[in-house]
This record gives sequence, C-alpha cells and structure tokens, in this order.
Amino acid sequence: MTTSSGYLAPGEGEMVFSVSASPIKFGVGALSELGADAVTLGMKRVAMFVDPHVLTSASGETALAALRGAGVDAVVYDHARCEPNSDSFEAAAAFSRDGRFDGFVSLGGGSVMDTAKAANLLATYPDDLLAYVNAPIGRAKPIPGKLKPHIACPTTCGTGSETTGITVVDIKSVGLKTGIASPLLKPSLAIVDPTTCESLPGGVVAACGFDVLTHAVESYTARPYTSRPRPAHPSQRPPYQGSTPYNDIGSLAAIRLGGRHLARAVRDGHDVEARHQLMFASTLAGLAFGSAGVHIPHAMSYSVATLKHTYRARGYEECDPMVPHGIAVVINAPAAFRFTAAVNPQRHLDAAAALGVDVAGARPEDAGSILADAFIALMRETGLPSGIAALGYAEADVPALAAGAYAQQRPLTMAPRAVSQQDLEGLYRDAMRYW
Ligand SMILES: NC(=O)c1ccc[n+]([C@@H]2O[C@H](COP(=O)([O-])OP(=O)(O)OC[C@H]3O[C@@H](n4cnc5c(N)ncnc54)[C@H](O)[C@@H]3O)[C@@H](O)[C@H]2O)c1
Ligand SMILES: [Fe+2]
Repeated sequence: MTTSSGYLAPGEGEMVFSVSASPIKFGVGALSELGADAVTLGMKRVAMFVDPHVLTSASGETALAALRGAGVDAVVYDHARCEPNSDSFEAAAAFSRDGRFDGFVSLGGGSVMDTAKAANLLATYPDDLLAYVNAPIGRAKPIPGKLKPHIACPTTCGTGSETTGITVVDIKSVGLKTGIASPLLKPSLAIVDPTTCESLPGGVVAACGFDVLTHAVESYTARPYTSRPRPAHPSQRPPYQGSTPYNDIGSLAAIRLGGRHLARAVRDGHDVEARHQLMFASTLAGLAFGSAGVHIPHAMSYSVATLKHTYRARGYEECDPMVPHGIAVVINAPAAFRFTAAVNPQRHLDAAAALGVDVAGARPEDAGSILADAFIALMRETGLPSGIAALGYAEADVPALAAGAYAQQRPLTMAPRAVSQQDLEGLYRDAMRYW
C-alpha cells in the first residue's frame, strides 16, 4: 500500500535508522586547540585552506599560531573560489598533489571547506572530477578508501559543511551545480569557534542564515525514513535516510534558534549572542541534514545559482556576480513548502511554530501558506530579493530552470512527495515574485 505521497506506508518499509555523527568541538576559543588536535590526528605537514578574508583576521592568526605552536608545518592556500567551480577544484587538487601533505585543515565558509574536501579526494585518489560527481551529471564512482585526515573550521554561520560528507561544485562544462556525496568526505573533526563569524558582513549572514533554516526545515519535512524500502543488506542503507527521530531534534532546535536570532545577527554585527547562536544552529542543522537529506528548495537552487551570473548580493561585493547559495535556496522555499505541505501538514505547522508563528487553531490545509508566509516575512526583514525575477529570471527561463532541477534526483527523492519536471516548472513560476 502507498500513502498519498506515493511512498510506502508506515510498517511496510524501513524500520531502522543509523546515526553517524562527526566529532565536533564547539565553543569560544576552540580554534586555539587546532594545533593539538592536528597532532592527535598524526598531522605533521598540512595543506591549510583559508578564506582570503579570514587569513588576515584574528581567526586566521589564531589558527596558524596554534598549528605552528604545535610544530605542524602549515602551507597556506587562499585561492579557493567563493562558490567553487570545477576549475577552482582542479587548481586546489593540483596544489594538494604537489605538496605531498599528510593532512588538511580548512578555515572558511562552505566554499573553503568544500574545496579542501575535493582537494583531499583528488590528491589521494587522482581521477577526473566528473568521475566522482553525482550521477547523472557525473559517474558517481565510489571513493576507493579513506582520505587523509581533515579538520574543518567553519567561519560562516551557514552550510554545516564541517560535518557533512558533501562537496558542492559548479561544473563548468555542464553549466550546473552539483556535488560529490560520500561518508568518506566527512571531515575527521569539526572545530566550531563561534567567534569566527563575528567579522562576517550582514549580507553574508543573511544568506548563510537562510541556508541554516532551509537545511533544518527540509530535513524536518523530508520523507520519513520508514517510507523507503528495507535494504537487502545493511551496507545498502543510504546515507540520506529521510527524516528520523534523531535528526528531528536537531532540525527543530535549529529552526527555533534561527527564527529567534537570524534577523538580529544580520542587523547588528555587534550582536555577538545572536551570531554565536546562529553558528550553533548551523552545526545542528548540518548534523540533521547530513543524515536526513534536503529536498526541493536545494534541488531547485542549483539551476538558480548557475543559469545566470548577473546578480550581486549585499555583502558579496568582492565576489564575481552570482547568487549566493543560501539565497539560491531560500528563494524557492516558500513555493516548495506550499507544495509539500499537502502530504505532511503537521510537520509544516511544527516548523512554523518553531519559527515563532502562533499556529493555534491553524487548519491543515493552510499549513503550507503559513510556513511560506513566515519565510517571506523573514526574507523581507533581512533584505533578501523578492523572488527569482529579482535575480534576472523570467517566464522564458522556466523550462531550463526546471530541467536543471529535475536532474538533481538525489535531493528530489528525499522530498515528502514525488515531484515531476512539470511540478518544478510550477514551483519556479510561484517563486518568481513573492511580494
Ligand atoms: N558541503 C555542504 O554540505 C554544503 C552545504 C551547503 C552549502 N554548501 C556550499 O557552500 C558554499 C557557500 O558557503 P558559505 O555560505 O559558507 O559562504 P562562502 O564560503 O562562499 O563565503 C561567503 C563570503 O564570506 C566571506 N567570509 C567567509 N568567512 C568570513 C569571515 N569570518 N569574515 C569575513 N568574511 C568571511 C568569504 O570570503 C566570501 O566572500 C556554496 O558553494 C554552497 O554550495 C556546501
Ligand atoms: Fe545548503
């Protein structure tokens, strides 16, 4: 029997979920322990991937002093591209192959951490980038074995990449953003020191903060793990399992923290409490989506981010024109949640309540619009664009946007209901202009 979502009913499919949490160190001052942790992991000579804005900041100085103080030779690479592409990954891989490193450290946002993951992979098991990239865009070759140890230290309150087995890249030859996904890509240790995000421009906090909120809401509303068939062998259990009782806890906590602190963290760079809490939300949401998976807003984001490079977001003035990841995702979120709420309205109401909306007496049929409205209000408050039209898209772009999103089958299969290419066209039309 299948449910209205088209998936297996409870009791008919998977009964087991697994938790493979990454080791995390969180707190003010954690970065000063980087050297000792590198030594514990056996590192003597590391490739140190650092965001150029962070290299000269207090966080950059702390990290390098910690490594060098512990006797670890750190060779700095500060050319990771903001929103990496295949060329920037290849350049980082060449640096890593030539340097003969025994470990990797990344200090930066998702762009830097993802670049270090890819460089570690391509230097340890050399092959074409496309060999490892998710099918159907790449060949999804399994990673042959363990990578070199990698300590990831985020400096943005957003991606959660420090705990995920994902690296995201814009493949220039195909003109699409996609990724490589494998538990072997998970960093050996995440050091999350919330002071690192104090130097972020407000516009970057807005984009990153919405990445956090969408990770958390998508994980919470993902298809339940019980709606998948039971695997024939435990080794075939997928890394993205769907929503589970474990990831629900982190997702809801992250939505609550994000709802309470995102606007404050954007508005006032001196609001240290709000920024630190957003950093914690980012780690919680990363853990949640790293095991549950994300779905439609992320699947739709990849073509929004790659088909046009004309937008320049506040806070990203020094980057080439592009749509930052968090904006490319959240711009689809209200449309996507209006669509998905039909199959699990209570979860959408729970998410709205965690964001601070009073949902007492709300009707299930209004759940999608209630959650969408909460997102729209926060987007307006934090100065985000009003829809994909503001990013340069028009009705004529809808078929190409939908075709690009439909190629992202890995996240789409985690949606709470099946989604066709035609559905995606409708969602992009809905996302054109929210106010
Ligand atoms: N691997 C994953 O699990 C995962 C998840 C979500 C997103 N991503 C990817 O991560 C990338 C986006 O990463 P991001 O949102 O963290 O931003 P980012 O790394 O692209 O950085 C954004 C901007 O902030 C600057 N910056 C970073 N830290 C700073 C600091 N402490 N002070 C001042 N400036 C600072 C950077 O120089 C850059 O200009 C995208 O490519 C996205 O696809 C990866
Ligand atoms: Fe994301």
